[in-house]
Amino acid sequence: MFKVHAIPAKRLPALLKAMPKAELHIHIEGSLEPELIFALAQRNQVSLPYASVDALRAAYAFTNLQSFLDIYYAGASVLLHEQDFYDMAWAYFERAAADHVVHAELFFDPQTHTERGVPMQTVVHGLYRACQDARTHWGIDASLILCFLRHLSEEAALETLEQALPFRDCFIGVGLDSSEVGHPPEKFARVFARCKELGLHLVAHAGEEGPPSYIWSALDVLGVQRIDHGVQALKDERLMHRLVAERVPLTVCPLSNLKLRVFDTLADHNLGKMLDAGVCVTLNSDDPAYFGGYIGDNFVQTFEALNLTAQQAYVLARNSFEASFVSTQQREKWLHELKLCVESFVEHDD
Ligand code: ADE
Ligand code: ZN
Repeated sequence: MFKVHAIPAKRLPALLKAMPKAELHIHIEGSLEPELIFALAQRNQVSLPYASVDALRAAYAFTNLQSFLDIYYAGASVLLHEQDFYDMAWAYFERAAADHVVHAELFFDPQTHTERGVPMQTVVHGLYRACQDARTHWGIDASLILCFLRHLSEEAALETLEQALPFRDCFIGVGLDSSEVGHPPEKFARVFARCKELGLHLVAHAGEEGPPSYIWSALDVLGVQRIDHGVQALKDERLMHRLVAERVPLTVCPLSNLKLRVFDTLADHNLGKMLDAGVCVTLNSDDPAYFGGYIGDNFVQTFEALNLTAQQAYVLARNSFEASFVSTQQREKWLHELKLCVESFVEHDD
């Protein structure tokens, strides 16, 4: 019998850190720390509208998704060369390794760069090389998911897909991100259909700020395999039943939701309710450099605010592997390692 309940509460923070886990919702451009933004700005002679690292950090007082995106796109403007993309991803992997992330699926936003004249190859090769080196250096298995910016047109997304096809082997899937409200998933029906034909995995942000109907259309029109965020699903009972019945994973990011004011406090977050309802939720960082924490911080702060248990920690880590786009054999291997790790925290009477 697997006695997760026999783990004492005082050992929970150590367990949260030590558990092998997968991160499935991280925008690599959102891992650019202010110090690296300034270092790259200097290296590339890019001028920033902020006088210092502190001034930039002080601007991280967001009121909603759009107020964050404006600063996030400005931060990404320092990325010009292949090595810049490599260095950004390398810095993320260093943090991820410390949090015992063994598998990461990184979102990247090529249009943010190609629109500024940076070639697709520069973006993809820099990130891909960092993913390969992360395996050698930290044993982290990493892959890339190309996101289309939903505030731009579907034609622009189709063109971006064409530009990316020479590098088809460097990414495993596509996603949909940026300003949600007013840009429903169905706007991208054709490009997602094309991606499906190409055998790419499909995910989309839905129900972050937008209504449950966006989650329905991400599933029914785009045919996505996972929903990113999805926290608005709890407003729609029929949708909740479907998510549970079909085991549709939601990649939830509590610190992001807090900073973008989706919830007033972390104690108001609905992650616990989602878990209780039996939804396959995973816990992730979204844009860790902007939202005050990487995946480990998300685990520790959310567990504290919601009084979650060791059993729920185990479920979240298990869900992260279940929801990941890896082979069954690889998944089973990590699930076994997770079990061994959790068992090592059980306190025995003898
Ligand atoms: N791009 C980066 N972070 C995002 C988020 N939280 N929602 C939508 N688009 C994003
Ligand atoms: Zn996101």
